[in-house]
Amino acid sequence: MDQFRGQPRLPKFAVPKRYDIRLKPDLTICSFSGSIAIDLDIVADTKYIVLNAAELTVSSGSISFTNKKSSKVVKPATVDLIQEDEILVLEFPETIPIGLGVLVIDFEGILNDKMKGFYRSTYEHSGEKKNMAVTQFEPADARRCFPCWDEPACKATFKITLDVPLELVALSNMPIAEEKKDGLLRRISYQESPIMSTYLVAVVVGFFDYVEDHTSDGVKVRVYCQVGKGNQGKFALDVAVQTLELYKDYFDVPYSLPKLDMVAIPDFAAGAMENYGLVTYRETALLYDNQHSAAANKQRVATVVAHELAHQWFGNLVTMEWWTHLWLNEGFATWVSYLAADSLFPEWKIWSQFLHETTEGLKLDGLAESHPIEVDINHAGEIDEIFDAISYRKGASVIRMLQSYLGAECFQRSLASYIKRYACSNAKTEDLWSSLEEGSGEPVNKLMYSWTKQQGYPVVSVKIKDQKLNFEQSQFLSSGAHGDGHWIVPLTLCFGSYDVRKNFLLQTKTEALDIKEFINLSISKDSLVESRKGGRTGTWIKLNVDQTGFYRVKYDEELAAGLRYAVENKYLSASDRFGILDDSYALCMARQQSLTSLLTLLGAYREENDYTVLSNLISISYKVGRIAADAVPQLLDNVKQFFINLFQHSAEKLGWEPKAGESHSDAMLRGEILTAMAVFGHDQTLNEASGRFHAFLEDRNTPLLPPDIRKAAYVAVMRRTNTTNRLGYESLLRVYRETDLSQEKTRVLSSLASSPDPDIILEVLNFLLSSEVRSQDVVFGLAVSQEGREVAWKWFKEHWEYISNTWGSGFLLTRFISAVVSPFASLEKSKEVEEFFASRAKPSIARTLKQSLERVHINTNWVESVQNEKHLTEAVQELAHRKY
Ligand code: BES
Ligand code: ZN
Repeated sequence: MDQFRGQPRLPKFAVPKRYDIRLKPDLTICSFSGSIAIDLDIVADTKYIVLNAAELTVSSGSISFTNKKSSKVVKPATVDLIQEDEILVLEFPETIPIGLGVLVIDFEGILNDKMKGFYRSTYEHSGEKKNMAVTQFEPADARRCFPCWDEPACKATFKITLDVPLELVALSNMPIAEEKKDGLLRRISYQESPIMSTYLVAVVVGFFDYVEDHTSDGVKVRVYCQVGKGNQGKFALDVAVQTLELYKDYFDVPYSLPKLDMVAIPDFAAGAMENYGLVTYRETALLYDNQHSAAANKQRVATVVAHELAHQWFGNLVTMEWWTHLWLNEGFATWVSYLAADSLFPEWKIWSQFLHETTEGLKLDGLAESHPIEVDINHAGEIDEIFDAISYRKGASVIRMLQSYLGAECFQRSLASYIKRYACSNAKTEDLWSSLEEGSGEPVNKLMYSWTKQQGYPVVSVKIKDQKLNFEQSQFLSSGAHGDGHWIVPLTLCFGSYDVRKNFLLQTKTEALDIKEFINLSISKDSLVESRKGGRTGTWIKLNVDQTGFYRVKYDEELAAGLRYAVENKYLSASDRFGILDDSYALCMARQQSLTSLLTLLGAYREENDYTVLSNLISISYKVGRIAADAVPQLLDNVKQFFINLFQHSAEKLGWEPKAGESHSDAMLRGEILTAMAVFGHDQTLNEASGRFHAFLEDRNTPLLPPDIRKAAYVAVMRRTNTTNRLGYESLLRVYRETDLSQEKTRVLSSLASSPDPDIILEVLNFLLSSEVRSQDVVFGLAVSQEGREVAWKWFKEHWEYISNTWGSGFLLTRFISAVVSPFASLEKSKEVEEFFASRAKPSIARTLKQSLERVHINTNWVESVQNEKHLTEAVQELAHRKY
């Protein structure tokens, strides 16, 4: 039996073809019983059947098969559930021959409170506390509900039967085939599913209301939510119906099931889960309240729905062969959700926000402790950690890079043929490349190899000399070190105008490009300014046009000056303005550029009005503010004043209340800008917020505090909260307690720890661990102010035992660690963190811990280099007094 231990994948003596699953959850004592009959293809003569199971009690089992024309039922001699490997090994007293067999197992389990496997979620119904039973199986927790071959490539059909109380709604992947009443119970059997992977099987049992619609070809679509809240499901319902139609066209394959249900689950670890035909969501990602949801909430609902529905094709119909190819699922769904949102809401101009994905991918992938998109998985416990910015955001970004290289139409055509070719089957990364290669005639495999098999990305340095551009690629690392990666970079450039372009593949380390003809061409364009003035170039050259490439660019001084000039004079697209800003910030962090020059560049964005650019500018300002607080505390007030001046123009333009007919992105921007003004201590903003917050306390429907600016007001209130002035904090807790809208609760939670008072922060942190906060939501409360960093770490250490047990393993725990550890910026702290975890390490947090420590080292070095920067004081003082 030991031969089956410690293996990443199951031995394949038998392959499952069809599961007949019966489950009977008991919602009062939170347990369940079940039985399965699995039709098997026995592919080798064997005495053993090995499949996955965890946290189940197996009461009996047998296998039946046909041997020399007589059928036979054999009971296993031993049944061992090996907990560490999550496998169930059945050893039979005789050899089971090649052929067909049926494996029957009875078992029992607990409806756990860990939000994985078969679990309970709690809610109130008619004033009473209730449990619902919910499944969450991805990546590898179906085995906690029934014994199975729990690997994405082991696809089979599923016939599910549930025994549930009469009054409850019970849902599964397929529509109901038959129902029978049996005393106080109903036995519901669902239609048999098409062939699918175990991680997509789902069951939900509880009290719900629903709203319903259907697609033009008759797919019935429903949104289930809390009783009495049907209205909040309508927006998502509408998005779902339209998105199904869109994907049917895009993939040229219809949605493959007769129905689609989408359910809001009060306790839910991820954002949403694409179970085939029964998609589950956090409430915040599915429900939209006309009066109390913000524009950002609306966008979130639309993109999450679009993402999960994309999986119905990309993931569910065509499934990754193994978790190494998880990015195929997640990267693609992330990319295509923009396509869908753009088609449904063109006025949102959502593609311009895509750069948010790219920059988050670049940030994580700039760490030495990153990993390749295609990553080896040797143990189920390692899978959770790769649901990260590499799989999702770098994944989506390299898809976008490839799409823009191949062209949208050719890309779509090739995708549609990929989906058809691998429908009801599994695919690897190379299979997608081959389809795209066939469709385009381009060497896609060769081109993409360096992007998915190798971690990191290049920075392309570009220098201009004698009318030549000299390019050099090297691996970018935020630490400032140079890695030895090498890429095939689809380089794009434009010269002083978007009409004068050049594209080529940079395959070698260095390359030179003669640009005489381009300079002449661009000089003849109207947009071009006088070519040279006193050594400063007035023309500009921008690489990575519209930022479709996953790389950074480092310009020499002359080129950088030209671009600064182009930003100021509004010659560049929003995406290019974003790219210049983002690359410059990254280079500054990597100590390849001074803080003075970064701040000077930021000044060029004083009249910026694009949402994505400003939103990134704000994030950068927060980070720079924190580094300044550590490095040059004597200059902190000046730095804050500089940011206040920088944002003042936009803050005034946007005001506090929505303007008639304003854009979606202005609505989102208003909240972010006002939050920034509050964080940097702008008095008028703090005062105004406080007045509006009081009006809101009197009347939750006051027009003085619409949802888009509530977070800003809450942060402002907390910035003024300390132990002698607690009123705001207490009022906010009241808002939290009195609302039944999850989005409102999340808004409050994410504002609470902004207080500058460590004692208040400590109270907030303790509140997070109280029964009033669902464990899925605690991470929102960990957005701790600079002043609270130390107390958060101390608190974290004191409660580690509890935290580690409650959030076990998985992404909720890893977010905890990175939120608390990453903000530090000293060697002393990194030592302390290392020492603390030396005896507490476990494999499921290993990667995150290393990444967080690397961030601390990067911060430490950055702080030191800022302290040594010459003339910083003069520069900051001058910048702070500049009024825009
Ligand atoms: N497949 C994931 C859900 C998931 C995440 C399962 C992590 C197991 C572990 C789902 O499709 C997803 O990606 N959800 C996102 C939302 C999406 C819009 C980015 C999420 O949960 O954050
Ligand atoms: Zn996904």
